[in-house]
Amino acid sequence: MITPRSSAVSPSTRPVRKAVVPAAGLGTRFLPATKATPKEMLPVVDKPAIQYVVEEAAAAGLDDVLMVTGRHKRAIEDHFDHAFELEQALAAKGDTVRLDAVRDPARLAAIHHVRQRDPLGLGHAVLCARHHVGQEPFAVLLGDDLIDPRETLLSRMLDVRQRHAGSVVALMEVDPAQIHLYGCAAVRPIGEEGVVGVTGLVEKPSPGDAPSAYAVIGRYVLDPDVFGVLEGTRPGRGGEIQLTDALQELAADGTVHGVVFDGLRYDTGDKADYLRTVVRLACARPDLGPDFAAWLKEFVAGLEGACKSPERRTAA
Ligand code: G1P
Repeated sequence: MITPRSSAVSPSTRPVRKAVVPAAGLGTRFLPATKATPKEMLPVVDKPAIQYVVEEAAAAGLDDVLMVTGRHKRAIEDHFDHAFELEQALAAKGDTVRLDAVRDPARLAAIHHVRQRDPLGLGHAVLCARHHVGQEPFAVLLGDDLIDPRETLLSRMLDVRQRHAGSVVALMEVDPAQIHLYGCAAVRPIGEEGVVGVTGLVEKPSPGDAPSAYAVIGRYVLDPDVFGVLEGTRPGRGGEIQLTDALQELAADGTVHGVVFDGLRYDTGDKADYLRTVVRLACARPDLGPDFAAWLKEFVAGLEGACKSPERRTAA
């Protein structure tokens, strides 16, 4: 890394080391599976969804991860800790592959936990990280958004923060009919491929009020200034303290950029998308992919056959 010639590193160019992962949601969309298991722990192939998020942070060089959890989330703490008896049993058997799989989560980063005592919204969850983060820029990764491990979105965002300072959001163009599900950004070109200036943000607008089709997806690199703004942010959409509303204030000052992403992103908070995620990532796995994809082709051909067959249609 090149050290700037000027004396001290200014706060705006301080490297990002910390990631914050809000994980306090109730997971009502997956009940009853999430009655006693946090939604973040639902498996995607053979790892819990939240492990992919921590792996993504670690792959981008962030070695400190703070989980903002709530009640009934102890399984997350256990997952990123050592499992002494299990590790001993696997070591005694000489099962080094599984031993590594069990040890990996605790080795990804220094993992910390803080509880969001009241479910007051995403902005409030981020505010709960203030003490841990301090005066450093930091990343926020939302667990429901899973970015394919082959993508480099977070590294691109860190690069934009390093060059432009301020805060950075990830943007994805969506069908305008879907924009009411997201934070939406008004943008202006800045003459850089894949990077825009964000001039305004609105949380879950109705299609008629949306300033663009650019949706904020769950990756942010934030300047610590956001904490001061969040402290004064009133409840907004849904009666919750919205991160989008705090970022709207920063955008009005011209300090927010957007990185436009058109790669593979999965919404594991949605049942159908969750199933697609499992299938796509299973197909990409060298150990499972070839056999699974072959079975999948046969299965789909069978479904198509069933649709085409007139007898079956009338029987149904
Ligand atoms: C949150 C944010 C929203 C963002 C979305 C991305 O909404 O509030 O601005 O677009 O995540 O997934 P949620 O999906 O938690 O309601």
